[in-house]
Amino acid sequence: MFTFPKPRAAAVSPAYDSQVTIRRPALAVSGTLLQTPTPQSLEVREHIVVAVDDRGEVIEVHAADSDAGRSAVSSAAATLALTNAQRLLPGLIDTHIHAPQWPQLGTGLDIPLERWLFEYTFPLESRYADPAFASDVWQQMVPTLLAHGTTTAVYFATVHEAATLLLAETCLQHGQRAYVGRVAMDHPEGTPEWYRDADARAGLESSARSIEQIRALHDPLGLVEPIITPRFIPACSDELLRSLGSLAEQTGVLVQTHCSESDWEHQYVIERHGCTDTESLARFGLLRRSTVLAHGNHLSEVDLGTIAAVGAGVAHCPLSNSYFAGAVFPTRRAQGLGVHVGIGSDVSGGAHPGLLPQCAMAVTVSRMFDDGVDAALATERRGVPGSRIDTVSAFHLATKGGADLLGAPLGLIEKGRSFDAIVVDLDRPLSPLRAWTGIDNEERIFEKIVRLAAPADISRVFVAGQTVSG
Ligand code: GUN
Ligand code: FE
Repeated sequence: MFTFPKPRAAAVSPAYDSQVTIRRPALAVSGTLLQTPTPQSLEVREHIVVAVDDRGEVIEVHAADSDAGRSAVSSAAATLALTNAQRLLPGLIDTHIHAPQWPQLGTGLDIPLERWLFEYTFPLESRYADPAFASDVWQQMVPTLLAHGTTTAVYFATVHEAATLLLAETCLQHGQRAYVGRVAMDHPEGTPEWYRDADARAGLESSARSIEQIRALHDPLGLVEPIITPRFIPACSDELLRSLGSLAEQTGVLVQTHCSESDWEHQYVIERHGCTDTESLARFGLLRRSTVLAHGNHLSEVDLGTIAAVGAGVAHCPLSNSYFAGAVFPTRRAQGLGVHVGIGSDVSGGAHPGLLPQCAMAVTVSRMFDDGVDAALATERRGVPGSRIDTVSAFHLATKGGADLLGAPLGLIEKGRSFDAIVVDLDRPLSPLRAWTGIDNEERIFEKIVRLAAPADISRVFVAGQTVSG
């Protein structure tokens, strides 16, 4: 008889944590911090010291010229003092990325989603039956993503257990925080016979085994988690969807899937199930707290309300959506209804791995949504006023928004959250990213970082207090 894996036992806090009030920092980083606690607020904190413990958690953020700040620096095992030409920001959270699509990044966006899957993507993903190929890709991809500042990635892997486990191991090896999902897909029409689970039961058992394999990895800092990953409704039988809903309930493992992405996909679900993706996922037990719904461009007000009520959320993939969706995701409408929204690269539907470019794209598409695009229409009838977001709001998606969606203590540099952070330089040779004396204040510097910072400008990346890039 098949049995579900047991829920993971609660972590036991180290004894020193509950008793000792002054912890000697493992690391103290001083400088200027820029972060976005809400979609509307940029927090600028100059001359601060971030004290980090040996498990990578922020103990406290002190004023540098306070006694506590000086004591944190003098007692820390390691220190880093940022210069006037450097800024500290929270690490970036990619809430939707297809790891196996890395080799086709930058190509293949000339056909609609339903053809793109069968003609380009499933053939590529099927190659990960070969663990040596998988390893080559993961070993090139994970450090590259870290260099772009992606400190957390929510991955779709492939249907293969071995390649999925190798991805989790590669993240641990390089120190990237990750949610790693074995892709479940068994539908006889929605998938090719050479790239699918044999049937619903095989898919369930494989996903359950993958969860156990990932949970068994040696992971002292708690960086890597499994995530239950039905690809999307068109690729899954009802039986598979229902059993994965039960698996989520039994194990407490988070869920991710694609939801109401394009006209074709949204209509397909309405025809097959007589309701929207959101309602259907809810019926199968897959719409849960922190379920990551990729794209969500065609969600109705009712869907958005349902998603908000359960504490799930949307991975907004602005670049990919510009090719596949036929619509712009209404970020402000969703946030206004209480939906958690993070950002996703959707590699390779989104043809860029960096989340700062995705933030810039989120701003750009929101402006086109707001203003409209067809000059043949009267100005006042062209767009959807009130839809625009700015760089502060976009950076919030890539940090605190993603953290809230995942229910993880990430996304801000503050007491009790993990020290996942990037250091951005403002004086790299040949970079357009520059702070001009007498011209740029911290608000403008922040805006420039979001629009202009590239890996060459990101000089250091931390995950759980460890330097993982730079
Ligand atoms: N829907 C199902 N699979 C995929 C995928 O790989 N990429 C995107 N963008 N949408 C999908
Ligand atoms: Fe996707």
